[in-house]
Amino acid sequence: MSIKRTTSESLFEKSKTYFPGGVNSPVRAFKSVDGAPLFIKKGNGCIITDEDENEFIDFCCSWGPLILGHNHPKVYEKVVTTLQNGSSFGAPTRLENELAELILERNPYIDKIRFVSSGTEAVMSALRLARGFTGKDKVIKFDGCYHGHSDSLLVNAGSGLVTLGESSSAGVPASFAQETLVLPLNDIEALKACVAEYKDQIACAIIEPIPANNGLLLQEKTFLLALREICTENGILLFFDEVISGFRVAFSGAAEHYGIKPDLVTYGKIIGGGLPVGAYGASSEIMARISPDGNVYQAGTLSGNPVAMAAGIAQLTECAKPGFYEDQAKRTLDFITPINAHVKAKGYDFEIVSIGSIFWLNFAGNKTIRKASQIDPDMTGFRHLHSALLKRGIYLGPSGYEVGFVSTAHTPEILEKASVIFCDALDEIYA
Ligand SMILES: Cc1ncc(COP(=O)(O)O)c(C=O)c1O
Repeated sequence: MSIKRTTSESLFEKSKTYFPGGVNSPVRAFKSVDGAPLFIKKGNGCIITDEDENEFIDFCCSWGPLILGHNHPKVYEKVVTTLQNGSSFGAPTRLENELAELILERNPYIDKIRFVSSGTEAVMSALRLARGFTGKDKVIKFDGCYHGHSDSLLVNAGSGLVTLGESSSAGVPASFAQETLVLPLNDIEALKACVAEYKDQIACAIIEPIPANNGLLLQEKTFLLALREICTENGILLFFDEVISGFRVAFSGAAEHYGIKPDLVTYGKIIGGGLPVGAYGASSEIMARISPDGNVYQAGTLSGNPVAMAAGIAQLTECAKPGFYEDQAKRTLDFITPINAHVKAKGYDFEIVSIGSIFWLNFAGNKTIRKASQIDPDMTGFRHLHSALLKRGIYLGPSGYEVGFVSTAHTPEILEKASVIFCDALDEIYA
């Protein structure tokens, strides 16, 4: 029996008359899974309730920001108290200082930070900074990494080992895409060949150090170290896009996890406690190039918005507590280990891959996948599992390429229950 969706269905019919595809961000449209998108009414802890009053254990967590789960009391309280004093001033507030201090005191990789309102805006701005700082235009991007929807980065690999990019969206001028060099992940030789050819033209190499937008393509540390070294040797800025991994695998993200210092970093998602915040940071020397100190222009009406800062402060204060990340990683492993053991015993071609509290459902079996080209584009297995889980009360983001997230609200008891449900759902789809 599938879930009741009549209210969601009628809301979706209505929303299609207002928004392209009925949504304000494409992946929400449920295009690659069954049925109409669920319209969510409320969230509390790790449980979300849709407009038909179905309840689900939520592993999407708003695509990552909600590391404390929905409606965390400390975040709620700080947001409401702040809002009582007004929602926006377009002038500095002490809350911006407080969030910056909370981050910079614990983060040895950056000296200064600038708050913006989304991950896309952070990456777009930091890329301009990289170009302004180095005086070079080209950027290395890795196939399978997503960095938001700014023109320079909506680019796919062309054919060949070292390729000038091709726009992956209509509306991106070919001339912009050609400033982006697209390389396979985890491939030192391709990187060396590219740098040898374009060396003096490359401003930066941008990577998700934990690529988590196209499956979870965990990189070998040797590759990340080689990338660091090659960038340093050739005057190329190393740009870690930590919009997902920042404050997720460790307080200072993948840089801390791997012990590798990037030259530029971007954050998003968790940093805003569920409200729209992005940020970019670097050394004082690089950040001095940003306006009003320098000649790289970047601005924002709602940047550093006090209510959003308040949510970020409340959330990151929890994340900064001792043992926070160890506990997150442990509970996540306790959740997936029994599922992987079950799958192995049954001989299903499936594995859950994880790092910290990020996990991904790999339908290619227990093969290590480090490059976008290794992912099976047939997402039928995911589509079936998504439906089988929904009807058993588990909500995953509606795309097999996306990762799932565990929050502090996912208690050991809930995770144990979710583990059993996963095994049951997998038995159904592999039957
Ligand atoms: C690594 C990475 N960079 C940038 C972005 C864009 O962030 P936003 O959706 O907040 O614009 C995302 C979004 O998923 C992301 O995962």
